Amino acid sequence: MGIGQATAVLFGREGANVVVADINEEEGKATAKQIKDEGNEAIFVHVDVTKEDLVKRMAEMTATTYGGIDVLIANAGTFALGKIHELSNEEWDRIMNIDLKGAFWCCKHVIPYMLKRGKGSIVVTSSVNALVAEPELGVYCAAKAAMCGLVRAIALDYGPNNIRANALLPGTIDTPMNIEYFNAQRDPVLARREIEAIHGASGHTDGDGLLHGVPGQRRELLRHRLVHGG
Ligand SMILES: NC(=O)c1ccc[n+]([C@@H]2O[C@H](COP(=O)([O-])OP(=O)(O)OC[C@H]3O[C@@H](n4cnc5c(N)ncnc54)[C@H](O)[C@@H]3O)[C@@H](O)[C@H]2O)c1
Repeated sequence: MGIGQATAVLFGREGANVVVADINEEEGKATAKQIKDEGNEAIFVHVDVTKEDLVKRMAEMTATTYGGIDVLIANAGTFALGKIHELSNEEWDRIMNIDLKGAFWCCKHVIPYMLKRGKGSIVVTSSVNALVAEPELGVYCAAKAAMCGLVRAIALDYGPNNIRANALLPGTIDTPMNIEYFNAQRDPVLARREIEAIHGASGHTDGDGLLHGVPGQRRELLRHRLVHGG
């Protein structure tokens, strides 16, 4: 189960009207059905976050169906492997467009509805890789770090409007994306051992962490330290 899927189901259980928005129609519809089968409220909206018109339509449909938007979870994401000198410009753009620009467009088109409502909460799924690098993940690290900058700026600009913005930086969580990541390694078993030595053991999306995104075994927060004057 992916982080977004687990989050949507959790929000349904908490009583939210959930809009499951994903490029994967089959999985997205199945998640909305799961929420409804549990007696909660959900619809599915097809969206490709790299297409601004579709992101705008997602926000419009959400507001029209449920009368406004309280919470945005900008979670769509993927990765590309490769050292920077080997990475094609196309791969750089693809990851930046999904992970970073997609989050930007989601925020851009949802914030007007939050302003209208006088409140809101935005959570973007960044990654521990915003702070800690992993081998051959340069573009992913760059996109996830930029998402943290984006969220800080949104929090500052819209705090006075009662809109909060936070980034979630999960460690290694066993999701379809994570399995794809390890399978793409030359030695998946060794890679998992090495990555877990950096981030701690993999977590699950069925835990009780914030939005089911916090790995079970390591719950301490990574801290930033700013160094002034050299
Ligand atoms: N799994 C981990 O270890 C881990 C760690 C840190 C951060 N994350 C981040 O968590 C988020 C969710 O990843 P996950 O691990 O649950 O993987 P996942 O593959 O289960 O979920 C990613 C979701 O994004 C959707 N998506 C991809 N491209 C899209 C697009 N263009 N438009 C709309 N939807 C699109 C996919 O269909 C999928 O449902 C990602 O942003 C990922 O970078 C994951």
